[in-house]
Amino acid sequence: MDKSLIVILFSSIAVLAALIKIFRIERKRRDAEEALKRSESRYRELVENANSIILRMDVNGCITFFNEFAQRYFGYKESEIIGKNVIGTIVPSTDISGRDLKFMIQDIMVHPDNYINNENENLLRDGRWVWIAWTNKAILDKDNSIKEVLSIGNDITALKQAEIEILKAKEAVESASKTKSSFFANMSHELRTPLNSVIGFSEVLGDQLAGVLSQQQKEYLGYIGDNGRHLLALINDILDFSKAEAGKMELELSEFNLKELLEISFGFIKERAMTHGIGLSVEIHEDIGMVKADQRKIKQVMLNLLSNAAKFTPDGGRIGVKAQKSADSEVEVCVWDNGIGVDPKDAQKVFAEFEQIYSELSRKSVGTGLGMPLSKKLIELHGGKMWFESEGKGRGSRFYFTLPLK
Ligand SMILES: Nc1ncnc2c1ncn2[C@@H]1O[C@H](COP(=O)(O)OP(=O)(O)OP(=O)(O)O)[C@@H](O)[C@H]1O
Ligand SMILES: [Mg+2]
Repeated sequence: MDKSLIVILFSSIAVLAALIKIFRIERKRRDAEEALKRSESRYRELVENANSIILRMDVNGCITFFNEFAQRYFGYKESEIIGKNVIGTIVPSTDISGRDLKFMIQDIMVHPDNYINNENENLLRDGRWVWIAWTNKAILDKDNSIKEVLSIGNDITALKQAEIEILKAKEAVESASKTKSSFFANMSHELRTPLNSVIGFSEVLGDQLAGVLSQQQKEYLGYIGDNGRHLLALINDILDFSKAEAGKMELELSEFNLKELLEISFGFIKERAMTHGIGLSVEIHEDIGMVKADQRKIKQVMLNLLSNAAKFTPDGGRIGVKAQKSADSEVEVCVWDNGIGVDPKDAQKVFAEFEQIYSELSRKSVGTGLGMPLSKKLIELHGGKMWFESEGKGRGSRFYFTLPLK
């Protein structure tokens, strides 16, 4: 073949190959461009359709991006808000509580990491105040300095209002409870004074110091004395409970032998147990030794527990006290009985003030429903715990309390 013909052929092939290469590169570029456009519109769609406020602001606080949701939410058109400062538009300079939001916005630009999650009050165009939970993220430029801040926000106004309502309700309840406690404390004091004289003089009369009495007069005086003492015990419980509730109860701490106190406590119900054929049992470990507590109050707790056990145990039943170390520096006392027990559905009434569970036995016995809540408070004041267990109605109860050992 002619030599020049060969040269032309080869150079044509080379040109063709180059053209194909250029064509391929061009196609790749177009594909990449389209992919970029698609992904950009996907992200735009995402940002515009998000049900969240999405905005960007520069280091001066001027808005550079404001998604559609934000425009609808705040009531600004894009053209009205882009380039405007957030302060004076969507952020008031101070919030209702007086916090300086102007300073906050400046600080976000310097320390965005401190504001990754931030809640603050914002302002709608129509003047309404709203609460928004924001997440903020710094956008850095090539030399790592902050260029813009991206903020995503969600309205939490309803949540905040509910929080405020709850707080108000809580304050109202607390103040009502304080009023109630101080009312009881004052009333109890006023009631105790005359009652002491009723009891005192019924005793003087009963001792026939003011003259000889007939059998019937003695019987009636007995009623006056018994009911007077019952009323006094009740008033004392109310007074104690109000004091404990108001945080005004003080403990008179002393060191004493808990085993002895528990044994003595049995004396409270010995007579009743005997007349009702109720068996008593004591199981007190030797190692419990001395405790530091308010002796009178622990006695009061034991009296409440044992008198309940006696009250709610039918004739012929059994009542017992058990005490042992439950942890290194804690003693656990249990007052148990095999009486009427507690139905699980009534369990929360046991430690609720002025609550009693209806039963044949409780109908016959007196009480106000203060013994257990008061005892629980007294034990808690000592740093201990009080709870109860019952297998159910008719299956007895076990009341426990713990006390820190000395
Ligand atoms: N050992 C028990 N067995 C069964 N039920 C009990 C026992 N102890 C308490 N309860 C139930 O818990 C309720 C509350 O007890 P709490 O001691 O507070 O009141 P109360 O004994 O009825 O009255 P108060 O102690 O004020 O005189 C009782 O009315 C009773 O229904
Ligand atoms: Mg009681």
